[in-house]
Amino acid sequence: MAAPNPFTEHLIAWQKTAGRHDLPWQKTRDPYRIWLSEIMLQQTQVATVIPYYARFLGSFPDVQALAAAPIEAVIEHWAGLGYYARARNLHRCARQVVEVHGGQFPQTEATLETLPGIGRSTAAAIAAFAFGRRAAILDGNVKRVLCRQFGIEGFPGAKKVHDRLWDLAETLLPERAIEVYTQGLMDLGATLCTRSRPRCGDCPVAADCVARRDGRQGELPEAKPRAAVPERTSTFVLLSDGSRLLLERRPPSGLWGGLLVPPEGDPATVASRFGLTLGEARPLPPLKHAFTHFRLTLLPVLCRVAAGVQAGEQGLEWVELARAADAGVPTPIKKLIRLVASSGG
Ligand code: ADE
Repeated sequence: MAAPNPFTEHLIAWQKTAGRHDLPWQKTRDPYRIWLSEIMLQQTQVATVIPYYARFLGSFPDVQALAAAPIEAVIEHWAGLGYYARARNLHRCARQVVEVHGGQFPQTEATLETLPGIGRSTAAAIAAFAFGRRAAILDGNVKRVLCRQFGIEGFPGAKKVHDRLWDLAETLLPERAIEVYTQGLMDLGATLCTRSRPRCGDCPVAADCVARRDGRQGELPEAKPRAAVPERTSTFVLLSDGSRLLLERRPPSGLWGGLLVPPEGDPATVASRFGLTLGEARPLPPLKHAFTHFRLTLLPVLCRVAAGVQAGEQGLEWVELARAADAGVPTPIKKLIRLVASSGG
């Protein structure tokens, strides 16, 4: 038998004295109740889940009752918990347990994982809590605990890091008291080793924690690397008659759909597109704007245009400079308009 890891031993001892023992899904070995709690807890916090859990069990006390219920009734009991795919999978899973497994939940993590809505970590949690199986969990909280404790670098969602975390989670499993250990991991992640402001002073495994030793609790686990955002540069022509601007309404879809924007393109192109005669072009300072998927550098150019232009026929609108900034224009355009207004048009 492998020598127990100090992490595992400390966690088990701590869970017994300082962990959570009164959650409604503890002190039962009923796989139905454990499964239901694990699904509800996948994306929802304990305090939110508790009243839903009680009401759900009141209406659907066992897997047969749930399988026999119409999906609408299940969704109704789920309303407010969010992530409704969970409710649909829950219902499918109940039917599968009844129809394929004779109403009994499978007892191994491998078979549990074949059921709808049950991934590797959830299968392990059910197998450990309901059947005492030596199976490893690895949810978001556990990833955080392991990354900090063992100083694991890289984004945990990256394949290599993910595989390494699973290997580590398997290696750390105790030979006995799997339920206590599994609950201890969950309790540590939820109550002490929190994402922000972890309570290292109370942590049972702080002495061996790499993140704590190096003061890197705020850096581990690492965040998802940001994809490089494309850069675009575009010229916008601010057509002014001295007191008004000619703005173009954008098509309903696409960037700035339906909003008023100065015509985009260099002055010669804009002049020919709209049949305008323009005065001398005066470049204004460039302006950077970050969108979700790219960064835009706006190159504004101020041009005089004759006041007599029939705007409507050109798909353009005259807007008073003084109120143009508030006329349904995008944020960076607002800044450009203010710049023009403050320079006297
Ligand atoms: N989060 C996921 N499973 C849990 C459980 N059994 N107890 C507390 N929090 C959890």
